[in-house]
Amino acid sequence: MVNKFMVKCLIVYFSVGGTTKKVANKVVAGLESVGYDVDLHDLTGGVPPSIENYDLLGIGTPAYFVSLPFNVADYLKTIPKLNIPFFSFILYGFVIGEGGNRLRKKLTKKGGRDVGYLKTRGREDFYGFVKSGYVLFPNSPNAEDLERAENFGKNIKSNIENENYISEEFDERPPFMFRFQRAINAKWITHSMLYKMIKVNKSKCTKCGICVNICPTHNIVMDDSGFPKIGKDCLGCYYCERDCPEEAITSILDTKMAKPILKYNENLIPKVVGDNFERVQLINGKVEKI
Ligand SMILES: Cc1cc2nc3c(=O)[nH]c(=O)nc-3n(C[C@H](O)[C@H](O)[C@H](O)COP(=O)(O)O)c2cc1C
Ligand code: SF4
Ligand code: SF4
Repeated sequence: MVNKFMVKCLIVYFSVGGTTKKVANKVVAGLESVGYDVDLHDLTGGVPPSIENYDLLGIGTPAYFVSLPFNVADYLKTIPKLNIPFFSFILYGFVIGEGGNRLRKKLTKKGGRDVGYLKTRGREDFYGFVKSGYVLFPNSPNAEDLERAENFGKNIKSNIENENYISEEFDERPPFMFRFQRAINAKWITHSMLYKMIKVNKSKCTKCGICVNICPTHNIVMDDSGFPKIGKDCLGCYYCERDCPEEAITSILDTKMAKPILKYNENLIPKVVGDNFERVQLINGKVEKI
C-alpha cells in the first residue's frame, strides 16, 4: 500500500559504465522533487534491502545480450510477492531486445503494478564493439536524455495516482541473430563454459589488479601467487579483458568462432545507429577516440 504521507521508494540499479547510474540519479531527483523519500541501491554493492519497508520499487539496468544481466535477473527472482507499484528504466546502445519486457512481466506476475517504463540510450562500449573499433552513442545519455529521466521520476507520482494509467508498450522481439547471440551467451553456458575461456597470460600480467576491481560480480580474485583467477559467477561483460592494460586477458571473443558474429554486428552499425558512433582503438586498456 502506498503511504499517504511519505512514499518510501527503493531503487535497485546495476551499472558498470556509469550510464545507468547517471539516469538513476536523475530519476531520484525527479521523485524527490515530488516529495518521495528514495533509497538508491547499487547491485554491485551487496544484497539490496528488503522491499518490505517500501511503498514503491524501481529497477534500473542496462540491456545485456538483448536481455537482462544475469545478476539483475537473479535479483528479480529473489523478490517475494510484490504488493506495491514498480517502475523500471533500461539503458541500451544497440538493439534493446526483451530485457525490459522480462523485467516488467516478472514483477507484474509477482503482483506489482507497472507505473512507468523508460528506455534510453547509453554509451555502448562493450568490448565486442571496441574490438571492431567502435563505440556507439559515445555521449549518451546526453542532457536531453537526463532531463527526460528526471521528468520520468517526477511523473511516477501522477501515474500512481491515476488508476487508469497504462504503462508503455512492450519492446519488439529482436531479430533472430540477436536471439541466437543471447542463446549462446545464456547463463548456463557462461557459467559452465565461457568463463573457463577467459584466460590470463601470466607472462604478460603485471598483477596490477585492474581486472579484479572492474569485475562487477567480484568474480576475479588474486591467487596465491598474485595472478588473477576467474570464477564462474561471470556476466560475460568482458570489461576485465577490455580494461587490462597489458592485453593479458583473452576470451571467446578472440576465437575464430566469434569473428562472424562480431562482423555481423559491425556491419549492422550504420543501419541501427546511423552516424551515432565514433571510431576508437584500445591503448593500454583505455578506449581512445581515433
Ligand atoms: C555485455 C554487454 C552486453 C550488451 N548487450 C546489449 C544489447 O544486447 N543491446 C543493447 O542495445 N545494448 C547492449 N549493451 C550496451 C549497454 O546496454 C549500454 O552500454 C549501457 O549504457 C551500459 O550501462 P552502464 O553504463 O550503466 O553499465 C551491452 C553492453 C554490455 C557490456
Ligand atoms: S588487469 Fe591485466 S595485468 Fe592487471 S592483473 Fe588483470 S590480467 Fe594482470
Ligand atoms: S567477463 Fe570478466 S569482468 Fe565481466 S563478470 Fe566475467 S570475469 Fe567479471
